[in-house]
Amino acid sequence: MSELFSPFQLKSVTFRNRIAIPPMCQYSATDGVVNDWHLAHYTGLARGGAGLVTVEATAVSPEGRITPACTGLWNDAQAQALAPIAAAIKASGAVAGIQIGHAGRKASANRPWEGDDHIPEGDARGWQTLSPSAIPFGANLPKIPQAMSLADIARVRDDFVAAARRAWEAGFEWLELHFAHGYLGQSFFSVHANQRDDPYGGNLENRSRFLLETLVAVRAVWPEHLPLTARFGVLEYDGRDTETLAESIELARAFKRHGLDLLSVSVGFSTPDAVIPWGPAFLAPLAEQIRRAADIPVAAAWGIDNPEIAQNTIASGQLDLVLVGRAHLANPHWPYLAALKLKVKRAAWILPSPYAHWLERYRPA
Ligand SMILES: Cc1cc2nc3c(=O)[nH]c(=O)nc-3n(C[C@H](O)[C@H](O)[C@H](O)COP(=O)(O)O)c2cc1C
Repeated sequence: MSELFSPFQLKSVTFRNRIAIPPMCQYSATDGVVNDWHLAHYTGLARGGAGLVTVEATAVSPEGRITPACTGLWNDAQAQALAPIAAAIKASGAVAGIQIGHAGRKASANRPWEGDDHIPEGDARGWQTLSPSAIPFGANLPKIPQAMSLADIARVRDDFVAAARRAWEAGFEWLELHFAHGYLGQSFFSVHANQRDDPYGGNLENRSRFLLETLVAVRAVWPEHLPLTARFGVLEYDGRDTETLAESIELARAFKRHGLDLLSVSVGFSTPDAVIPWGPAFLAPLAEQIRRAADIPVAAAWGIDNPEIAQNTIASGQLDLVLVGRAHLANPHWPYLAALKLKVKRAAWILPSPYAHWLERYRPA
């Protein structure tokens, strides 16, 4: 028996295995609306056999996009265009997930392959960014954000709620709040970005407030029987790790108390000066720590593309779901190759019948 290929249940949703595809921006939308590229991309990923396919970071408001080509869920046309994607993912036997977020001070950027930097001031493609405080990220993202007013904070929280409702109407079954990677949610939590002296800044309770209020407001509209999850950077790797981890554990406990069903453990990316100890599955022990301390299911990504390592993270109880990202861009049939490697019986049947029938006695070189 392979733990990686064992089913997983969260609320009313059953995952056929523990392999999950994390959100990966395609930077290919127009006015936030997905197109044929996205439909083919996500259909292909779902046909590959993963248990969960998560649609990329989708902005809750226009200024919350990372780039002008990011997807959005701030209007009904965007939701209608996403519905066939959710349907195609489900038709292939995967759980249809989507991540909703706001890019905060990292918004208004060029696509990664067109510079990965802020769109210059005065360029009509760009816009004013928002953040808890008027502190830029720095390095390739030097634009000074506007510090959010209390009205801005309430409006963005409401945008998350409206986007969540549209995600459900579009047919998604797994909703992930993007509170990671130096975007808006992470910025409220991080002292690198948040220097406010009102109820949304300062001590841990205040720096957690925007995230928890957003979670509670979304939970109220997202169906109780469906998983509500968040991605959050538990460490910044900035020399303050002991303190940050203790705070992150407190936040994870609060997330659970307020109805979060799973935490996707990631990196903060709130400062360009972080020294990150990249390595295979380097976040898995940290995720396990959060899992135990907060008693909440966890997932983690970053460098888990080796089937044996992926299997180990599940078998040893470090992770509930393994996030395999770039390896799926390289080959959407990664789960099939992993099953062959792990000697799963009838590995080919992870794929749809029109492929599986021919591959049962065939071994790729
Ligand atoms: C093209 C690309 C786009 C990404 N977009 C997102 C995103 O929309 N949201 C997010 O939380 N992480 C995003 N990430 C990070 C991935 O979800 C994942 O954490 C990362 O690729 C590491 O996992 P891997 O080593 O298996 O690729 C992106 C990564 C890539 C390569």
